[in-house]
Amino acid sequence: MKQGRFITMEGVDGSGKTTQLQLTARYLLDCGYDVVTTREPGGTKMAERIRGLVLDADAAINARTEVMLYLAARAEHVETVIKPALAAGKVVLCDRFADSTLVYQGYVRGIEIAKVKALCAFAADSLQPELTILLDAAPEALLQRRADRGVRDRFEQEGLDFQKKVREGFLSLANSEPDRIKKVNALQNTEAVQADIQKLLKEAGF
Ligand code: TMP
Repeated sequence: MKQGRFITMEGVDGSGKTTQLQLTARYLLDCGYDVVTTREPGGTKMAERIRGLVLDADAAINARTEVMLYLAARAEHVETVIKPALAAGKVVLCDRFADSTLVYQGYVRGIEIAKVKALCAFAADSLQPELTILLDAAPEALLQRRADRGVRDRFEQEGLDFQKKVREGFLSLANSEPDRIKKVNALQNTEAVQADIQKLLKEAGF
């Protein structure tokens, strides 16, 4: 049976990941692939419940508790959604995965990176994406773009310094794994971002 392909999309909050994921799914469907789109934390009933807990803005949460919740959601998601889809030969497009844990819980929250890596490998049963598209933009510019559009959400709640640190974390990861993590300039218009993504997919053999 042919093995599927696993692609993830990462970036700071507000980088346009979710829109690009949908456009990318449509493109791959048009190319004839069987595509599953999903997200983290989430993607299954139980993992979506964990998402509700971990993203609850009212609840202050200990960093170790937080990482375990993200990873519990991932273990469930990998076993019940991602692995079966890959085994059925599908392309799985996932909005965030282990790179987010390395950046948010490791790089930003300060849990030792080697530990986070080991925990991520355990949670995902060592499953890794073959390609990760990093939608990159300076948080200052994203903030301005969002203010122009009247959008207010997690990006503003977390603050600019937090988002700058997140960006730094993603860029540092991308530098350490240039073959897997490909950067795309998220400040371009939607069509130009999508064109860059399609170019990367072609380079990856899609
Ligand atoms: P999003 O679905 O809007 O991208 O939001 C998910 C949030 O969860 C985002 O702020 C990043 C955060 N997150 C982590 O902190 N660690 C993780 O492992 C994952 C998957 C997400």
